[in-house]
Amino acid sequence: MSLKGKNALITGSSRGIGRGIALKLAQQGARVAVHYYQNEAAAKATLAKIRELGADGFLVQADVCRMEEVQRIFQRVKEEFGTLDIFVSNARTEAPTFYQPLMDITLDKWDTAVDSQAKAFLVGAREAAALMRDGGRIIAITYAPGGRFGSWQPWVAMGAGKAAMEVLCRYFAVALAPRGITVNALSPGWIEDSVLNSLPEAMQQTIRSWHQDGWTPMGRLGTPGDIGNAVALLCSEEAEWITGQLIDVDGGASLMDAHLPLSIQQVPTKAAEAA
Ligand SMILES: NC(=O)c1ccc[n+]([C@@H]2O[C@H](COP(=O)([O-])OP(=O)(O)OC[C@H]3O[C@@H](n4cnc5c(N)ncnc54)[C@H](OP(=O)(O)O)[C@@H]3O)[C@@H](O)[C@H]2O)c1
Repeated sequence: MSLKGKNALITGSSRGIGRGIALKLAQQGARVAVHYYQNEAAAKATLAKIRELGADGFLVQADVCRMEEVQRIFQRVKEEFGTLDIFVSNARTEAPTFYQPLMDITLDKWDTAVDSQAKAFLVGAREAAALMRDGGRIIAITYAPGGRFGSWQPWVAMGAGKAAMEVLCRYFAVALAPRGITVNALSPGWIEDSVLNSLPEAMQQTIRSWHQDGWTPMGRLGTPGDIGNAVALLCSEEAEWITGQLIDVDGGASLMDAHLPLSIQQVPTKAAEAA
């Protein structure tokens, strides 16, 4: 699979999952616009790695909560690349800007979460489509459990924002299908080298154990490279008829039934296999 000659924009590619996607697409030969918000040094490091891989790109800074800044990202892409083939909407604001339980959340925090996902994707996908050649790819990075379930109370605003972004993917998929542009949402499971690593160490270990002990059938957390691989697959020519879908890339975590303990479900785990 080669992405030589393709131009890609990945929002939030200074670090975490976005960086994993940027490096994977660069490895396949794509030129990459590396977007960041505050962490210029990390963005520069991503671009340096892209160049080590024999590809090229440029840096662009913007706050995705401000729609005029989202539009500015695409103006830069037009100036630097002229056209666009791949747009990955991945940036997510930091937890303190939106993480608050349903009964307490301020309207400011609600707006920050929803604007950074739904409104930024509405504006970004329209701008991307205007720059895109036929056969382009638009991919929204979501967290589908946040929209599907209701248990993680302080995630309510981000869950709603991501769910609205998933809905937009379906509408854009229909609108852009005549041009051969596919639009999909990709939902990672819990990923190493991402926001996870900003949590207290004890909480990180609890999350790892939860998944290793059976709640992710594959027995491990994901990596940014796993998500980069899935994005690269969706960008391949062979994926040209996959559109409007929500794809879980999570080692099987979304298959698990939370109504019964794992022991009753007789879920095979790595520990049980080894015993
Ligand atoms: N981590 C997981 O396990 C996981 C699971 C499922 C889904 N996801 C989704 O995957 C995506 C990436 O998550 P991650 O954990 O890799 O993120 P992360 O490591 O926390 O990185 C966040 C990225 O977004 C940028 N950003 C932060 N605030 C921004 C703002 N206001 N405007 C524009 N950009 C902003 C950051 O730029 P700076 O570096 O400049 O601050 C950084 O590039 C998110 O959409 C997230 O919801 C993550």
